[in-house]
Amino acid sequence: MKKNVVVLTGAGISAESGIKTFRDSDGLWENYRIEDVANYDSFEKDSELVTKFYNARRRQLTTTEPNEGHKQLVRLEDKFNVVVITQNVDNLHEKAGSKKIIHLHGELTKACSVSDTTEIYDIGYHDITPMDVDKNGDMLRPFIVWFGEAVPMLEPAIAEVQKADILIIIGTSLVVYPAAGLMHYAPKNCKKYLVDPKRPDADLSGITFIQEKASVGVKQVVDEILAQNQ
Ligand code: APR
Repeated sequence: MKKNVVVLTGAGISAESGIKTFRDSDGLWENYRIEDVANYDSFEKDSELVTKFYNARRRQLTTTEPNEGHKQLVRLEDKFNVVVITQNVDNLHEKAGSKKIIHLHGELTKACSVSDTTEIYDIGYHDITPMDVDKNGDMLRPFIVWFGEAVPMLEPAIAEVQKADILIIIGTSLVVYPAAGLMHYAPKNCKKYLVDPKRPDADLSGITFIQEKASVGVKQVVDEILAQNQ
């Protein structure tokens, strides 16, 4: 019976691929305050600014490649049931070859209807323009879970963590809930690792902390897991 490995990633795993984190550059995300672009009120106030912001983030994906952090995780796919739960909206885990991925905060390569966020469209790297409408003629918006909005994939994510034998947390400041609370759903005997160059401000008791950037630390964790589960 294969063991279950759950990986919880944040912006830090994509940092070495050139995608900026949210809280390392004094709260600016690509020169915008997160609050100004990542919430529904901002979209209501200025849908053009917010849509243009995410169009730029989406276009950036065309020239962004996964780094060793993403790639090392794929080494676990054969011997373990691996689920990657990511807060990231990029597609680097997909590009690296991870098979089962849960996006907690949405995906840049998708759009949804303004009137029904469960009506989702794959748009790849295309811009969303004011002319794009859903089947009822309503505007499209980025398929991103903005601050204050429900996290539709939370239940499936909790269910995966509840049956984890191993949990690997990579590159998240653990300040945004409910994602930051997921680790508390892990079973008592779950082996936990955390990879981050900075020690997050969270209770890390029972967690093996690897103070490294993802491209170095994830390999260390994967090597140890493979060695311990020959
Ligand atoms: N390798 C690993 N971790 C790194 C690296 C790296 N090369 N560089 C930075 N980090 C770490 C930082 O030390 C920090 O702990 O990545 C983390 C980034 O934290 P945040 O910028 O807060 O990103 P994240 O935790 O993913 O934010 C959560 O907040 O803005 C919302 O919805 C957005 O999903 C996002 C959520």
